[in-house]
Amino acid sequence: MSTQIKSVLVENRVFPAFPELVKTANIAGMEAYKALVAEAQASPEGFWGRLAKENLNWTTPFTQVLDESNPPFYKWFGDGELNVSENCLDRHLGTPTEHKTAIIFEADNGDVTQVTYRELYNRVCEFANGLKALGYKKGDRAIIYLPMSIEAVVAMHVCVRLGITHSVVFGGFSSKSIHERLVDVGASLVITADEQMRGGKAITLKPAVDEAISMGGCEAVRHVVVYKRTGGAVNWTEGRDLWMHDVAKGQSADCPAVPVNAEHPLFILYTSGSTGKPKGVQHSSAGYLLWAMLTVKWAFDAKPSDVYWCTADVGWITGHTYIAYGPLANGLTQVMFEGVPTYPNAGRFWEMIQRHKVTVFYTAPTAIRSLTKASEAQPDVHPRKYDLSSLRLIGSVGEPINPEAWMWYFKEVGGERCPVLDTWWQTETGGHMITPLPGVTPLKPGSCTLPLPGIEAAIVDEAGGDVENGMGGFLVVKRPWPAMIRNIWGDPERFKKSYFPPELKGYYLAGDGAQRDADGYFWIMGRVDDVLNVSGHRLGTMEVESALVSHPLVAEAAVVGRPDDTTGEAIVAFVVLKRDLPEGDEAVQVAKQLRDWVAKEIGPIAKPKDIRFGENLPKTRSGKIMRRLLRIVAKGEEVTQDVSTLENPAILTQLSKSV
Ligand code: WTA
Repeated sequence: MSTQIKSVLVENRVFPAFPELVKTANIAGMEAYKALVAEAQASPEGFWGRLAKENLNWTTPFTQVLDESNPPFYKWFGDGELNVSENCLDRHLGTPTEHKTAIIFEADNGDVTQVTYRELYNRVCEFANGLKALGYKKGDRAIIYLPMSIEAVVAMHVCVRLGITHSVVFGGFSSKSIHERLVDVGASLVITADEQMRGGKAITLKPAVDEAISMGGCEAVRHVVVYKRTGGAVNWTEGRDLWMHDVAKGQSADCPAVPVNAEHPLFILYTSGSTGKPKGVQHSSAGYLLWAMLTVKWAFDAKPSDVYWCTADVGWITGHTYIAYGPLANGLTQVMFEGVPTYPNAGRFWEMIQRHKVTVFYTAPTAIRSLTKASEAQPDVHPRKYDLSSLRLIGSVGEPINPEAWMWYFKEVGGERCPVLDTWWQTETGGHMITPLPGVTPLKPGSCTLPLPGIEAAIVDEAGGDVENGMGGFLVVKRPWPAMIRNIWGDPERFKKSYFPPELKGYYLAGDGAQRDADGYFWIMGRVDDVLNVSGHRLGTMEVESALVSHPLVAEAAVVGRPDDTTGEAIVAFVVLKRDLPEGDEAVQVAKQLRDWVAKEIGPIAKPKDIRFGENLPKTRSGKIMRRLLRIVAKGEEVTQDVSTLENPAILTQLSKSV
């Protein structure tokens, strides 16, 4: 079939689940997993209803689990009421967790601050009472534009406690991005900071908010609440701007959580689509919380003794589900950090794991690949220089993790003792969907393995028909699940079109290409929009990139298609080497070596026609390679789009030169 994506990479390594985890994990053993899968299949509503009753505190219990009367606008637990912040904070008061450390925060300069669950609760309540006094209430929307900080988590919970829907914007996005979101959500409140610290440098935040508001259309904004992070100078609009500490000052440390309907929009988080304006992904309260809580319990095997660390920014979905909500609902102690993984040096992650005795570590393939490169160049910051023996689980999210990067992570960071949890999910799915379970799943490097119980993931063709194992196709989810996206804020038509195209039988379309192997394991091949078409063969970006990354010289690679007269599309590869940038003849030679390598690993069809070297690749702030921009660069065209959401815009120039 013309739409089928060919799978070309062969990966045979398998690592069985560690016996100790099979005995002790929260889902202990394959039989336990299969029993949950069977329960969910036999009665999805029975399964989800049971879990929602057992795990969440309801102020009004639900009587209906799922309302499917108006697909794809599903309602979960639709007549129940609860408060998500209550379920993350108040639930621990009066239990041994009350005085347990909730967050260990390490600032850019290494300063450490800690809060217990009780202290976090008090801070949230004082600030919430302050906002209440200013007239903020259920149904309002707030933009949060803060650095990584305890205050960011506090701000999110303050909103949620009062029933205010939040939309977090990455600290560092441009005023234009803030403006777009302010207008789209109709925010009446902005919570920001004077500045943030990254790699030893202060970067202003408030001026971008001031500028965004001055662009017009944000008349709904009544206040800008400012967290004093550095004390740097700020412009002040009297009456509108307030210091966060002043808002909270003198307020009571108790603020009853406002019960909201299960479907009340907890937050709106924008994801940049490949075309058009960013989509405001709208999530629910109860269904989202249930999955945030359960996936931390299941995939991260949450235990009271854990010190958990997810390195994501709160401006990303990972920082929502796996920092602000899931770990707190489970009463975990977690580490949070401000700054970058390479400052003061590229050993920062390893040093922090050692210092705080982290047991569960969750990061992104981009960090793993760049730290592999750094630690090969500077032996002092190699993970083996640190005591990482506290680790028991290590996870990955955001992009496919290439088998070689997986092996490095497994060996050098996990000491071959810790399962690598390659968690596949999306902003839209709310939480993990396809992931290994520590006490269950034999691991294969590069595969996100099997769906979680209750998640009916499948690979289908363009008519929604099942594709046999070994063949690529569209990754879909056949049945609704509680944490799924509820809408694109203010644009239900786009929601239906983007995620539930009529030809796919009502399935949720993830937009990723994938295949299942003979064991039913899922292998993500890349975004469908990025698929390469060489002489009529459709190839996923992931496999060609993984072949390149498996070459000893290569740290990172991205491939895109460029129109070609003979082959329809030619593959252009952007490569970051583990060593310095090669020049002249040397570059030509290395490029030839890599071309031959890919031909040998995959086949001549996948041989890149053009190879470009750079010190880095263009990435979003969450670490995803921007292939869309690379396609423009590959064609030799000028990038004219707004690149403010890029981590490192300057790199585009370097990559515009062919070898
Ligand atoms: C990709 C991040 C392969 C995928 C939570 C998905 C992955 C998109 C993985 C969602 C993984 C994420 N293996 N690909 N383990 N995790 N992706 O919305 O293309 O930032 O559709 O959510 O990232 O990215 P998002």
